[in-house]
Amino acid sequence: MVRAHLARLASILALVVASSAGIAAAQDAPPSPVASPVGTAGLRSEPFGEVDGQPVERYTLTNANGIEVVILTYGGIIQSIRVPDRDGAMANVVLGFDTLDEYVASSPYFGAITGRYANRIAGGQFTLDGQTYQLPVNNPPNSLHGGEKGFDKRVWTASEGSSPDGPSLVLTYTSPDGEEGYPGTLDVTVTYTLTDNNELRIDYHATTDAPTVVNLTNHSYFNLAGEGSGTIYDHVLQLNASAFTPVDETLIPTGEIAPVAGTPFDFTRPKPIGQDIRDGSSEQILIGRGYDHNFVIDRPEGDDTSLVQVARVVDPESGRVLEVASTEPGVQLYTGNFLDGTFAGTSGKVYRQGDGFCLETQHFPDSPNQPDFPSTELRPGEEYTSTTVFAFSTEE
Ligand code: GLA
Repeated sequence: MVRAHLARLASILALVVASSAGIAAAQDAPPSPVASPVGTAGLRSEPFGEVDGQPVERYTLTNANGIEVVILTYGGIIQSIRVPDRDGAMANVVLGFDTLDEYVASSPYFGAITGRYANRIAGGQFTLDGQTYQLPVNNPPNSLHGGEKGFDKRVWTASEGSSPDGPSLVLTYTSPDGEEGYPGTLDVTVTYTLTDNNELRIDYHATTDAPTVVNLTNHSYFNLAGEGSGTIYDHVLQLNASAFTPVDETLIPTGEIAPVAGTPFDFTRPKPIGQDIRDGSSEQILIGRGYDHNFVIDRPEGDDTSLVQVARVVDPESGRVLEVASTEPGVQLYTGNFLDGTFAGTSGKVYRQGDGFCLETQHFPDSPNQPDFPSTELRPGEEYTSTTVFAFSTEE
């Protein structure tokens, strides 16, 4: 209680300091390379430029251990996550950019909230209650991550949350009926909380005024050795998934739920991400150019919604560990296969294929066209809720 109260006081102070600093804060300055001193948990903000005349803010969440998460109101983008290695050295473990202009110009969804529908919808079409909806075909022949201007490209409204677990940032966005072809006015809230247990918790909530579909996730690319430090092929991944959803050549699920056993997709026991990523005998690896697949998260019988452990990733070099838990039925493992060396990231290093991995907790791709997949429909009076926790630690 006292601790929470102190944290709250600290965060109010931080906000006051931030607002009195006002526009003096450098718009595009990189996050401070110095870890915040232990004990200054809180939330602070600064201006971060404009998109289409709309001001964008940058918020920094800091916990009592000096871990720092920086989030933009543009796309709800996680710009950086600074965590210690086994010797206490801090590094930013997510890919991103220094400036807003770079996010607007060329971001492959770095750190962003993807929606209304994360991943692909076949042909950009689905039928709901007998009515067919056409979405933008922005990843021919399919619709990807909510269309031309999805949630990753919207400016969200920010406020400070009141979680007892640590500083939290609440982002809201109202997506009008028909936006990007989707029916229903969708009211969305995404809350980021940084706990003193070094967890970044993301809570999603949405309601609609007409039947629609929704599937939200965060598209962070992680590199536990630090962004810009090379590939993640030596990171050791364990996934609690005995099955995955194979895809056709356009990355749309075939509808099959296939066991991972005996395939490059078996991460049920810890395995370096790169071990089987060049297995040319696997048609699925060839189609994805690596891993770009939805895994079916193992859950206790009859439990579709509780928060369960999804993944554990270790960078043996730095000792940094990322554990992912989620209420979602699926997770997209994407190994940055489309990063092609055409731009540089936060630290000025060029990003190339395999330089980051995403674990996008989600409902399965193309569920609106797959009656046997868990439903992504949302109707008036219902609440969409989803939680994912990214927990950071180290091991020897
Ligand atoms: C997802 C998709 C990938 C790719 C990335 C963004 O992970 O599954 O195919 O589109 O987003 O580049």
